[in-house]
Amino acid sequence: MCGIVGYIGKRDVAPLLLEGLQRLEYRGYDSAGIAIQNGGRGGGLKTVKNAGRVRDLEGKVPARFSGTSGIAHTRWATHGAPNDANAHPHLDAAGRIAVVHNGIIDNSADLRAKLAAEGIELASETDTEVLAHLIARAGAEKLEDKVREALRYIEGTYGIAVLHADFPDRIVVARNGSPVVLGIGEKEMFVASDVAALISHTRQVITLDDGELATIKADDYRTYTTDGSRTAAAPTTVEWEAESYDMGGHDTYMHKEIAEQPEAVDRVLRGRIDDRFATVRLGGLNLDARAARGVRRVKILGCGSAYHAGLIGAQMIEELARIPADAEPASEFRYRNAVVDPDTLYIATSQSGETYDTLAAVQELKRKGAMVLGVVNVVGSAIARETDGGVYVHAGPEVCVVSTKCFTNTAVAFALLALHLGRIRDLSVADGKRIIEGLRRLPEQIGEILREEDRIAKLAAELAESRSMMFVGRVRGFPVAKEASLKLKEVSYIHAEAYPASELKHGPLALVEPAVPTVAIMPTDELLEKNRATLEEIKARSGRILAVAHEEQPKADSTIVVPRNEPELDPVLMGIPLQLLAYHTALALGRDIDKPRNLAKSVTVE
Ligand code: F6R
Repeated sequence: MCGIVGYIGKRDVAPLLLEGLQRLEYRGYDSAGIAIQNGGRGGGLKTVKNAGRVRDLEGKVPARFSGTSGIAHTRWATHGAPNDANAHPHLDAAGRIAVVHNGIIDNSADLRAKLAAEGIELASETDTEVLAHLIARAGAEKLEDKVREALRYIEGTYGIAVLHADFPDRIVVARNGSPVVLGIGEKEMFVASDVAALISHTRQVITLDDGELATIKADDYRTYTTDGSRTAAAPTTVEWEAESYDMGGHDTYMHKEIAEQPEAVDRVLRGRIDDRFATVRLGGLNLDARAARGVRRVKILGCGSAYHAGLIGAQMIEELARIPADAEPASEFRYRNAVVDPDTLYIATSQSGETYDTLAAVQELKRKGAMVLGVVNVVGSAIARETDGGVYVHAGPEVCVVSTKCFTNTAVAFALLALHLGRIRDLSVADGKRIIEGLRRLPEQIGEILREEDRIAKLAAELAESRSMMFVGRVRGFPVAKEASLKLKEVSYIHAEAYPASELKHGPLALVEPAVPTVAIMPTDELLEKNRATLEEIKARSGRILAVAHEEQPKADSTIVVPRNEPELDPVLMGIPLQLLAYHTALALGRDIDKPRNLAKSVTVE
């Protein structure tokens, strides 16, 4: 959350920065701003910023706003309201230093008080502004040393870019807990929170480590630590083409990403199935058979949709590998002084690989000597790098703030892991083959569900009138209910609750009435009759029901029928129509689907 972007080279910088901000807007869209160098040494900085979206900023950039280096920011507000004054970049009192920042400065209140006591007038309510003043009052000569000196006072997380009017040939950047990527071009350099902002200009990138800084110049860069020692950062090539970040003819990224799921699932399976031994090959797992056999428990940690995919994964691991497994929100785990057990395999799961709570849980576990694997989408992200090994999800770039294709691919990645662990332990060859065949059918079956979109859109239009909605499921259906409920509230703003179907009668049934419909996830499995009994209970209270099932459900007002696969893989397929349901409900209500209010992707703050 919050996106930073910077450029230094020969081209006119403002259009490049605006384009970068558009690409990063999913990280925050409360306000936006740009600072550029105006001429050479002796010149000054020019700044434009405002509350609102990048398109509002675009309209405010003056005609004569040219230069060849600059920094920019799109904000998700933490400290201070989303108004013009709190928009980044923030300047020092003389207006010669500009800073953009992603993260949170925990001790900003103390620092603000100290600066105020020194007579410095703060122009905003943000935590970031202190950095500009601290750099200004640093005694060191060089910009790099000034920034390092200022950072010594900072407690918290940051990805920053600093522009100084006295050092027009460079931008200094630093990372601690919030992503910073350098892009290397032909006599030009970029910096951004995410490759999305620079991919249309270069695919050669360097991802900074925590505690690392960099100086970028038009034709040079160097990386170093907070104590000034040089680091050897090797460039890598981004695996995705620039077009993967485009909308590709869809009206929203959410729709594009839902539609992409057959290919995305095909990608997570590709090259991994081993028919000979009825298992899968997971090259990066770093867990040999002996270690896998020694695992007594599995604990999966993630946030939001990643946590829900983890709930599905835990069930798959219990069913296929017969290892007790559960999932927990990483944000809870890291604060509750959990017992860290040497025989437990910990797995952190995350689309972005940057979610701060998940990263902090991993770091805490590593400090305590635990083995932690990652099930992560973004290659080379912080969580991917901190974990001991893992499985990449290969969903491709996910731009919409709400997760869809990555949720599905993560569930499939967990199926691969569960199969792998199962075949090392006690899963039979026959069951291994059965799951493999099921996995192979998924892309085609997802395509079948997507072809039902028009009907799902009609159902969504009816549900859009609802005051609130209930989502229920049992065992394999329950994580699907949780994810569907989250998806609906995020994009449509309709209140929704997810409950295990069996829990309804212990309280939530009191909410059921015609204006509060229930979506029941009810595969044809050993629990179908129990789920049908739940439908009876809801009907008896005049509740409307939409069933997601393998066959028409006579007690439901409508049924979305999904194709049958192996029972262990049901959650993967049953989630898909509910993504479309959330999407079309939001569309019917005229919501801003790709940028829901108050949210942002990549939650790099606590
Ligand atoms: C929901 C959603 C969020 C994320 C959560 C974790 O649609 O997108 O709940 O799932 O913020 O993000 P990652 O997976 O990047 O760790």
